[in-house]
Amino acid sequence: MNGFEFQCGTKMIFGKETELRVGEELKKQGATRVLFVYGGSSIKKSGLYGKVVKALQDAGLPFDELPGVVPNPRVSLVRKGIALCREKGIDFLLAVGGGSVIDTCKAMSFGVYYDGDVWDLISGKVKPGDRRVPVADILTLPAAGSEESDSCVISDETTHTKTGFGSPLMRPVFSIMNPELTYTLPPYQTACGSMDIMAHAMERYFSHTQNVEMTDRVTEAILTTVIHNLSVVLEKPDDYAARAEIMLCGTWAQNDMTGCGRAQDWFNHGLEHQISGFYDIAHGAGLAISFPAWMEFLCGKEECIPRLAQYAVRVWNAEMNFDNPEETAREGIKRLRGLIKEAGLPLTLSEAGVGKEKFEEIADNMTNGGSHTCGAFYAFTRDDILTLLEMMA
Ligand code: NZQ
Ligand code: ZN
Repeated sequence: MNGFEFQCGTKMIFGKETELRVGEELKKQGATRVLFVYGGSSIKKSGLYGKVVKALQDAGLPFDELPGVVPNPRVSLVRKGIALCREKGIDFLLAVGGGSVIDTCKAMSFGVYYDGDVWDLISGKVKPGDRRVPVADILTLPAAGSEESDSCVISDETTHTKTGFGSPLMRPVFSIMNPELTYTLPPYQTACGSMDIMAHAMERYFSHTQNVEMTDRVTEAILTTVIHNLSVVLEKPDDYAARAEIMLCGTWAQNDMTGCGRAQDWFNHGLEHQISGFYDIAHGAGLAISFPAWMEFLCGKEECIPRLAQYAVRVWNAEMNFDNPEETAREGIKRLRGLIKEAGLPLTLSEAGVGKEKFEEIADNMTNGGSHTCGAFYAFTRDDILTLLEMMA
């Protein structure tokens, strides 16, 4: 196990009707003027919008609204939000929605105190400072894990660039998590979210760091819990117990608890951000396409087989073939593909409407024109990436 620092100060307020406490909690945390940020129509249809407005009014908290966050959230709205915060003297951001809404607030939160264009922070050109407008959220979609993570991902729609930045100060002050709020998720969003949760677990799990048994076991628990409960909620969307399990997994897969003390990979996220930058597909759908293909590619790399086989045995109950562990590894991939198909997610780029025209550009972007490799568990060259993209096609 490697040495590490870990600090996660987000207060988790979990359970039925917890959203009704948002006004009092914001006040307790020192808010005096709030910007209520949300996406499209889902919170109005579910009635959550009205409950939030009432909770803020009951707490006597003045607030302004910023609707219109879209999936793969845009920097243009972040800029608009920053201007609004400055104009209205906002001292707390309240995100109500999924990862895109929370990420928009996180980017705004640091952008308010930065004199230049916020894209300097998002693109990593300038490091975020110590000052930020605090963020809280009411989570409606277990997926990105942004409710406790220290990072955010934003797209520049004019250049098709999707990238992110982070800071230890970026974790939300508190996150309200009521699994009932996820009953309205369409099956496709539910499945995309669960795939993203599994991807966050797997980006950390596939590592060559030795002696990380505790975090391995926690990660395996997260993966098996999501696999089991995804099937339950696809059958019965209002199963509270199953929705609660998935919601908790989503947070703990991405708050970096399971990343402590080990090298992490993140190749699949890098690749997915490239693809969704160009094609605007759901993040979880992109990961459903890339992860099994990535594993299949790694079946050809001897040093990767033992961990792929361990994953197949412990997560997918595959039988260990000691004479041929590659066969065991391939069984795990087959079972992962089975779940993805059953959940209605795409397994190939063509199923997601993505062609081959950007393959070269994607490989260039990920390796800086072939000058470096990408990934930790296995270091992909530019040619490797092109081979993998063909396998995903
Ligand atoms: O806009 P509305 O109408 O609210 O609809 C949303 C949206 O269309 C809908 N939705 C959310 N909750 C719902 C609901 N529909 C019905 N009932 C509900 N309860 O779901 C759609 C997708 O929402 P979005 O926020 O985009 O999804 P998600 O939470 O998966 O977030 C994805 C974004 O997070 C980034 C991704 O790259 C992507 O941009 N990520 C952020 C990370 C982080 N900050 O730590 C890490 C992740 O790996 C990821 O990269
Ligand atoms: Zn993700």
